[in-house]
Amino acid sequence: MSPIATADLNSPSPAIHTNGLDGIDVNGRSSSAGSSTTKSTQPAANHHWRITLENKVIVITGANRGIGLGIAEVCLANSASIVYSFDLFEPGEEFAAIKTAYRGRLRYIHCDVTNETSVTNAIDTAVEQTGRLDGLVANAGMTKHQPALNFDRPQLEKLFNLNVYGAYFCATAAAKKFIELDIKGSIVFTASMTSYRPNRAAPSAPYGGTKAAVRNMAHTLAMEWAQHGIRVNSISPGFVKTAMTYFVDQAPDWDLKMQYYGGMPRLADPKELGGAYVYLLSDGASYTTGIDIPVAGIVGAW
Ligand SMILES: NC(=O)c1ccc[n+]([C@@H]2O[C@H](COP(=O)([O-])OP(=O)(O)OC[C@H]3O[C@@H](n4cnc5c(N)ncnc54)[C@H](O)[C@@H]3O)[C@@H](O)[C@H]2O)c1
Repeated sequence: MSPIATADLNSPSPAIHTNGLDGIDVNGRSSSAGSSTTKSTQPAANHHWRITLENKVIVITGANRGIGLGIAEVCLANSASIVYSFDLFEPGEEFAAIKTAYRGRLRYIHCDVTNETSVTNAIDTAVEQTGRLDGLVANAGMTKHQPALNFDRPQLEKLFNLNVYGAYFCATAAAKKFIELDIKGSIVFTASMTSYRPNRAAPSAPYGGTKAAVRNMAHTLAMEWAQHGIRVNSISPGFVKTAMTYFVDQAPDWDLKMQYYGGMPRLADPKELGGAYVYLLSDGASYTTGIDIPVAGIVGAW
């Protein structure tokens, strides 16, 4: 067995004295074996190095439509064995068409991500059906466009319950399952360009706050869970053509804005985000954790 392969067995290298930083010796040199307590995500020596999701079971929350469904389709096109949508509402025709095209490899489990028990039950059901779980995309979310001075407490709670607590419940439930199954899993949050700066197309301060929380959480969880071989990243879409953004390119000043701000003068198709998710969910990203990938065609949050 090669020295690389032994890293999976958590065997410490007796010659290396660590200073508490993973894989860094007291002189700042990195060790390929990592520390004795950190599970290495490095693929096996015979890894094929193609970016693929073959043999992987992926859960995407809110994938009955919109961005989630677009990600699901691209995961399936890249050989994911099963993709689950955990969603609150019954899937529609668009979902059914993709399910048929991929011969049932797209499945739906009813789940309310704001309810921890509902999330745990849905993950247990998926694992009972397939025997594994390799990736989770915490994607279900909502926005509310309204001046900050007009928000009341129930509106704020609804946003934070879904976008922050929901994402947190899903990530922690998946992490517990990865550890239980001894799987080096990947978690990807759908953040937003509004996590960096304001959405000038519509006032949405609390939404931006929820997405900044999500992006930060991804980074912190990546640090906490590296020891378990779990990678955590986020993706920040700009404007994507979904029910959430139906109004954006219909605004009378859209063309003028596009001339002024530059970038790609259109909204993204949800599938155009998919490649970034596939990469982060794949073993090709074994050394990628704690990052955010903005996919915004330059426009989104100017
Ligand atoms: N559309 C954009 O331009 C855009 C840009 C940046 C980020 N985002 C983010 O992308 C994600 C998806 O957005 P979208 O545009 O596809 O929205 P969407 O409204 O089209 O889809 C959201 C999905 O989440 C589901 N959902 C809602 N509440 C749920 C709950 N409690 N439990 C489980 N599922 C629930 C809905 O049923 C729906 O299928 C959100 O997190 C959103 O904030 C969207």
